[in-house]
Amino acid sequence: MIQFGSLELASNLFLSPLAGYTNLPFRLVAREIGGLHLATTDLVNARSLIERNPKAFKLIETNENDRPLAVQLFGSVPEEMRDAAVMLQELGVSAIDINMGCPVRKICRVGGGSAMMTDHTATQHLVRTMIQALRIPVTAKMRLGWDDDNLTAPDLVRSLEDAGIAGIFIHGRTREQGFSGTVNLSGIRSVVAAVRSIPVIGNGDVTTPEAAKMMFNETGCHGVSIGRGAFYDPWIFVRTQAYLATGILPPEPSIADRVRVMSRHLDLMIDVFGEKHGCVMFRKIGPWYAKRFGPSSDFSKKIVRLESHAHYKEIVESYLLWRTQFCDDLGNLLPRYALTPMMASFMRATDEPASVRRESIPVPKGPVEVW
Ligand SMILES: Cc1cc2nc3c(=O)[nH]c(=O)nc-3n(C[C@H](O)[C@H](O)[C@H](O)COP(=O)(O)O)c2cc1C
Repeated sequence: MIQFGSLELASNLFLSPLAGYTNLPFRLVAREIGGLHLATTDLVNARSLIERNPKAFKLIETNENDRPLAVQLFGSVPEEMRDAAVMLQELGVSAIDINMGCPVRKICRVGGGSAMMTDHTATQHLVRTMIQALRIPVTAKMRLGWDDDNLTAPDLVRSLEDAGIAGIFIHGRTREQGFSGTVNLSGIRSVVAAVRSIPVIGNGDVTTPEAAKMMFNETGCHGVSIGRGAFYDPWIFVRTQAYLATGILPPEPSIADRVRVMSRHLDLMIDVFGEKHGCVMFRKIGPWYAKRFGPSSDFSKKIVRLESHAHYKEIVESYLLWRTQFCDDLGNLLPRYALTPMMASFMRATDEPASVRRESIPVPKGPVEVW
């Protein structure tokens, strides 16, 4: 059993925040499949919450099936972070996560995100100020440090543990690395070694149950947090739980299951964001499901123009018909179209060029490319 302070968690697998993606519909989809207990919102600006900005409130939209929930806050003013956290506690949130890992310039410039990893005294003060005002646990999510010469995470987590932090999420890359290169498992191990008793959750490039197991084994971490891997495959939590418990890898979901879950995801997007906006947002979600469909050009070129629920039905029906040309009589992909297994950066041969490794797990395009 893993615990953040007094919060007991039924799974040691976590959903990593992905701004723009890990909203209520996606969290519900992942929870319904199983294997996930604590999920985290996208990052939210503490000041915007205090100012009751409607966009910030939309980011924390939740319901009774979305429990337990952590809200991830960013900000560098201790009193603002404290007041936003107290407000969230009153709203029934189970935990607060502080973003100390975001490398985006706009956030670092004001002392938030990974800039917090460079001034330990100020960060410890901020964390203390929050914890003294809260009953719910506070966790921190960070990278290994600013760059390879400044791997500050082990020192920082020691001082945060002294301040009362209840757990650490650690992405095994530096700020300078962005998303390139390999996740540094020995870096994660050094963070595990630095704490006295709080759980350390490893993160980065886990796209398969085998990769999760390797992260546990090589780092001694107490939990694993999965971001992009869950977007490819919301089944990753339940499959990883089974694999860790039995050593047997459950089969990948069928195309029928993938389409069923994708359709549920769209229905929830429409419930939460309305049909028009939900469909527009789904234009960047559909292609993630398609990455594991096998041949999917027919689907991918249409879904990025999705207009309505009825349009979605047309797109899926025509795609499933189109896909039959790649399948045998039982509806399984012919061997030459079979999917190549996913592989985490840290499970690949080290002589492979970095460009190949990076391609293995794409980062969604846009200003968040460097998250
Ligand atoms: C599109 C995108 C958005 C992200 N948004 C956040 C965020 O809001 N807060 C945060 O702490 N990390 C954020 N991250 C980082 C992820 O939580 C995670 O640490 C990183 O993607 C590595 O894990 P993964 O390989 O399992 O995705 C984001 C990453 C991506 C690709």
